[in-house]
Amino acid sequence: MVKRTIKNVAAAPPVALVTGGNVGIGRAIAVALGQAGYEVLVNYRRRKQPADLTVRQIREAGGRAVTVRADVSQPADVQRLFAHLAADYGKLDVLVNNVGDYLRKEFNRLTPADVRRMTESNYYSVVECSLRAAQLMRKRKNGRIINIGYVYAERLQANPRVAAYHCAKQAMITFSLSLAKDLARHKITVNVVSPGINVNSVEKPKTLKTEIPFGRLGRHEDIINAMLFLLRPESEYITGTHLKVSGGHGL
Ligand SMILES: NC(=O)c1ccc[n+]([C@@H]2O[C@H](COP(=O)([O-])OP(=O)(O)OC[C@H]3O[C@@H](n4cnc5c(N)ncnc54)[C@H](OP(=O)(O)O)[C@@H]3O)[C@@H](O)[C@H]2O)c1
Repeated sequence: MVKRTIKNVAAAPPVALVTGGNVGIGRAIAVALGQAGYEVLVNYRRRKQPADLTVRQIREAGGRAVTVRADVSQPADVQRLFAHLAADYGKLDVLVNNVGDYLRKEFNRLTPADVRRMTESNYYSVVECSLRAAQLMRKRKNGRIINIGYVYAERLQANPRVAAYHCAKQAMITFSLSLAKDLARHKITVNVVSPGINVNSVEKPKTLKTEIPFGRLGRHEDIINAMLFLLRPESEYITGTHLKVSGGHGL
């Protein structure tokens, strides 16, 4: 890969990194960013084949994309990923922290290792990537960070079977708001977009109408719409929001 000079960097297409962009919501986000003119880094952890498919979809539509392997819950991997980004691209315009494993488990079977894994996946990964992204974005006084949450996580509530997941997402949301406040002076925005139950969810609602007032599962396009809205130049003043894209689920 050719290293870019500072002059080149400014003229090059905007760069976006999507964590967990190999499947599901992450893939849909990556493809939408490719269509919107971003050069997309499609991150994956283990499964390269679906990441290659995401890249192929973007390229076939005329966009630019590459795969990047990194377990974003591991600091050493994140350091390597951002070192590569800084050396080969010299900038990052958009970071979408999409990674966030889910766990439903009875409390009597839940282990501290489960809680640690959920926290690393849903919270620490966002901390690691956002702080490193902010270093790159600050230099150019420009950047958008979008973190994928979960609607219910905003609420303080007892929900034993999914407590580890909820707590980690809750921490992530609180962290995002604080980061938004700090980075506003650098013209970097940080927002959370939260799905409810999407088409690819492992949880299938028993009664659709009562669980999702809108009467249907969330679609990837619903999330993409919200994201593209937050990326519009006119949205530069919107930061520290928690945008729920859930058809009323979680209200
Ligand atoms: N789907 C829903 O209905 C729903 C609802 C509410 C919230 N959400 C949130 O939306 C986001 C996306 O959910 P999803 O269901 O579309 O995703 P997903 O299918 O659970 O996972 C997407 C990809 O993330 C990658 N990944 C996981 N941990 C990683 C790590 N540490 N480093 C790098 N890549 C990692 C995995 O790649 P490998 O296969 O390579 O390991 C996986 O293929 C998550 O934050 C989730 O909590 C989803």
